[in-house]
Amino acid sequence: MADVLLKVKAFPFLSFKKVIIVCGGAGGIGSSIVQRFLNDGASVALVDVNGEYSKQLIESNWSDYAKEGKICFYLGDISSRSKCFSVIDKVS
Ligand SMILES: NC(=O)c1ccc[n+]([C@@H]2O[C@H](COP(=O)([O-])OP(=O)(O)OC[C@H]3O[C@@H](n4cnc5c(N)ncnc54)[C@H](O)[C@@H]3O)[C@@H](O)[C@H]2O)c1
Repeated sequence: MADVLLKVKAFPFLSFKKVIIVCGGAGGIGSSIVQRFLNDGASVALVDVNGEYSKQLIESNWSDYAKEGKICFYLGDISSRSKCFSVIDKVS
Protein backbone atom coordinates (compact mmCIF):
# COMPACT_ATOMS: atom_id res chain seq x y z
CA MET A 1 0.00 0.00 0.00
CA ALA A 2 2.78 2.44 0.93
CA ASP A 3 4.50 1.69 -2.42
CA VAL A 4 1.32 2.55 -4.29
CA LEU A 5 0.91 5.79 -2.37
CA LEU A 6 4.49 6.85 -3.14
CA LYS A 7 3.86 6.46 -6.87
CA VAL A 8 0.79 8.68 -6.82
CA LYS A 9 1.55 12.28 -7.72
CA ALA A 10 1.14 14.06 -4.42
CA PHE A 11 1.03 17.55 -5.87
CA PRO A 12 -0.98 17.61 -9.14
CA PHE A 13 -0.91 21.44 -9.16
CA LEU A 14 2.79 21.24 -10.01
CA SER A 15 1.99 21.29 -13.70
CA PHE A 16 2.21 25.06 -13.16
CA LYS A 17 5.66 26.57 -13.06
CA LYS A 18 6.18 27.18 -9.37
CA VAL A 19 9.07 27.35 -6.97
CA ILE A 20 8.18 25.69 -3.71
CA ILE A 21 9.79 27.18 -0.60
CA VAL A 22 10.43 24.51 2.03
CA CYS A 23 11.32 26.13 5.35
CA GLY A 24 13.33 23.96 7.71
CA GLY A 25 14.08 21.95 4.58
CA ALA A 26 17.21 20.39 6.06
CA GLY A 27 15.30 18.84 8.95
CA GLY A 28 13.68 15.44 9.26
CA ILE A 29 10.22 16.44 8.07
CA GLY A 30 11.46 19.23 5.80
CA SER A 31 13.88 17.03 3.86
CA SER A 32 11.13 14.44 3.25
CA ILE A 33 8.92 17.23 1.92
CA VAL A 34 11.76 18.43 -0.32
CA GLN A 35 12.20 14.89 -1.67
CA ARG A 36 8.51 14.55 -2.38
CA PHE A 37 8.31 17.84 -4.29
CA LEU A 38 11.41 16.97 -6.32
CA ASN A 39 9.92 13.57 -7.17
CA ASP A 40 6.86 15.37 -8.51
CA GLY A 41 8.92 17.68 -10.70
CA ALA A 42 8.84 20.88 -8.68
CA SER A 43 11.63 23.37 -8.27
CA VAL A 44 12.49 23.72 -4.60
CA ALA A 45 14.00 26.55 -2.59
CA LEU A 46 15.36 24.89 0.53
CA VAL A 47 15.37 27.51 3.30
CA ASP A 48 17.07 26.76 6.59
CA VAL A 49 19.10 28.46 9.32
CA ASN A 50 21.62 25.62 9.20
CA GLY A 51 23.65 26.50 6.13
CA GLU A 52 26.48 24.02 6.45
CA TYR A 53 24.23 21.01 6.96
CA SER A 54 21.80 22.10 4.24
CA LYS A 55 24.60 22.33 1.68
CA GLN A 56 25.93 18.89 2.66
CA LEU A 57 22.43 17.45 2.40
CA ILE A 58 21.95 18.82 -1.11
CA GLU A 59 25.40 17.62 -2.17
CA SER A 60 24.87 14.09 -0.89
CA ASN A 61 21.21 13.58 -1.82
CA TRP A 62 20.18 15.96 -4.57
CA SER A 63 23.30 16.94 -6.49
CA ASP A 64 21.72 15.94 -9.83
CA TYR A 65 18.68 18.08 -9.09
CA ALA A 66 21.00 20.93 -8.06
CA LYS A 67 22.88 20.69 -11.39
CA GLU A 68 19.55 21.00 -13.20
CA GLY A 69 18.67 24.03 -11.07
CA LYS A 70 15.75 22.16 -9.50
CA ILE A 71 16.94 22.80 -5.95
CA CYS A 72 18.70 25.81 -4.46
CA PHE A 73 19.65 26.57 -0.89
CA TYR A 74 18.82 29.90 0.75
CA LEU A 75 20.08 30.75 4.21
CA GLY A 76 16.99 32.08 5.96
CA ASP A 77 15.36 32.48 9.33
CA ILE A 78 11.56 32.32 9.47
CA SER A 79 11.17 33.16 13.16
CA SER A 80 9.34 36.45 12.52
CA ARG A 81 7.00 37.92 9.92
CA SER A 82 9.59 40.39 8.62
CA LYS A 83 12.20 37.64 8.32
CA CYS A 84 9.70 35.53 6.35
CA PHE A 85 9.25 38.40 3.88
CA SER A 86 12.98 38.76 3.55
CA VAL A 87 13.24 35.04 2.73
CA ILE A 88 10.57 35.45 0.03
CA ASP A 89 12.47 38.45 -1.39
CA LYS A 90 15.67 36.40 -1.55
CA VAL A 91 13.99 33.52 -3.34
CA SER A 92 12.17 35.80 -5.79
N1 LIG B 1 9.26 14.92 14.21
C1 LIG B 1 8.02 14.80 14.69
O1 LIG B 1 7.49 13.71 14.98
C2 LIG B 1 7.18 16.05 14.90
C3 LIG B 1 5.83 15.89 15.29
C4 LIG B 1 5.04 17.04 15.43
C5 LIG B 1 5.57 18.29 15.22
N2 LIG B 1 6.88 18.41 14.85
C6 LIG B 1 7.39 19.75 14.62
O2 LIG B 1 7.66 19.90 13.22
C7 LIG B 1 8.80 20.73 13.06
C8 LIG B 1 9.89 20.01 12.26
O3 LIG B 1 10.21 18.77 12.91
P1 LIG B 1 11.51 17.95 12.51
O4 LIG B 1 11.43 16.66 13.22
O5 LIG B 1 11.65 17.94 11.01
O6 LIG B 1 12.64 18.86 13.17
P2 LIG B 1 14.18 18.99 12.79
O7 LIG B 1 14.86 19.58 13.98
O8 LIG B 1 14.71 17.74 12.20
O9 LIG B 1 14.17 20.07 11.60
C9 LIG B 1 13.91 21.43 11.82
C10 LIG B 1 14.70 22.21 10.76
O10 LIG B 1 14.31 23.56 10.83
C11 LIG B 1 15.44 24.40 10.82
N3 LIG B 1 15.10 25.63 11.54
C12 LIG B 1 14.97 25.81 12.87
N4 LIG B 1 14.64 27.08 13.15
C13 LIG B 1 14.53 27.72 11.95
C14 LIG B 1 14.21 29.07 11.58
N5 LIG B 1 13.93 30.01 12.50
N6 LIG B 1 14.18 29.37 10.26
C15 LIG B 1 14.46 28.43 9.31
N7 LIG B 1 14.77 27.15 9.60
C16 LIG B 1 14.80 26.79 10.92
C17 LIG B 1 16.52 23.58 11.53
O11 LIG B 1 17.82 24.03 11.17
C18 LIG B 1 16.21 22.17 11.02
O12 LIG B 1 16.89 21.89 9.81
C19 LIG B 1 9.30 21.11 14.47
O13 LIG B 1 8.75 22.37 14.80
C20 LIG B 1 8.71 20.02 15.33
O14 LIG B 1 8.53 20.46 16.65
C21 LIG B 1 7.67 17.32 14.68
